[in-house]
Amino acid sequence: MEKESEEVLRGFGFAATAPLEIDFGCHRGAFLIGMAALHPGTNFLGIEKQIDRVEKCNARAERLGLPNARAIQGIGAESLKELPTGCVSVFHLYFPDPWPKRRHASRRVFQKSFLAEIRRVLGQDGVLRLMTDDEPYFREMRDLTRVGWREIPWDDGRETVQTAFEITFRKLGQTPFQAALVPGA
Ligand SMILES: C[S@@+](CC[C@H](N)C(=O)[O-])C[C@H]1O[C@@H](n2cnc3c(N)ncnc32)[C@H](O)[C@@H]1O
Repeated sequence: MEKESEEVLRGFGFAATAPLEIDFGCHRGAFLIGMAALHPGTNFLGIEKQIDRVEKCNARAERLGLPNARAIQGIGAESLKELPTGCVSVFHLYFPDPWPKRRHASRRVFQKSFLAEIRRVLGQDGVLRLMTDDEPYFREMRDLTRVGWREIPWDDGRETVQTAFEITFRKLGQTPFQAALVPGA
């Protein structure tokens, strides 16, 4: 990896170089922190637009002594532009705001330009994992990934935790829509 890219990754403040996973829209970090605790050999970076949530994530990671969990403030596709090409092993996008009203649909984060950035930052064996309770949004995401992506089984055999929103929806008896995708025909 180029020196410049290494410096960017070091700038996130992880204690060690390790595979990097992104939790986009990490909220207060329930998933990020839980995964970092389960997988100390992987770095988990949360990207979140609300600074108070970013600060809560980082304070929690510090309190729990998790050097592999960090969050930064960032909004949409722009926030991915600072990440080096091919540096991400897993990109988690869970319960992105659905903006259900037709006139607000352009506010959805999952757009062509966002997907292009995800594709750029994913490494060779990188995986994009999508989860939402919103069926129309899920259909839109699958339409956008119809070409150039291939679905693989959701269960990757790793121990995992539920996200905050997943816990809420499952408590209501709902099953979220999920897809794990890899670049390819
Ligand atoms: C519905 S919550 C889901 C939180 C978490 N992923 C979960 O599953 O529990 C969406 C989160 O994404 C953040 N968010 C919304 N739009 C964003 C954007 N364009 N860029 C970065 N974060 C965003 C929100 O502030 C919020 O914390």
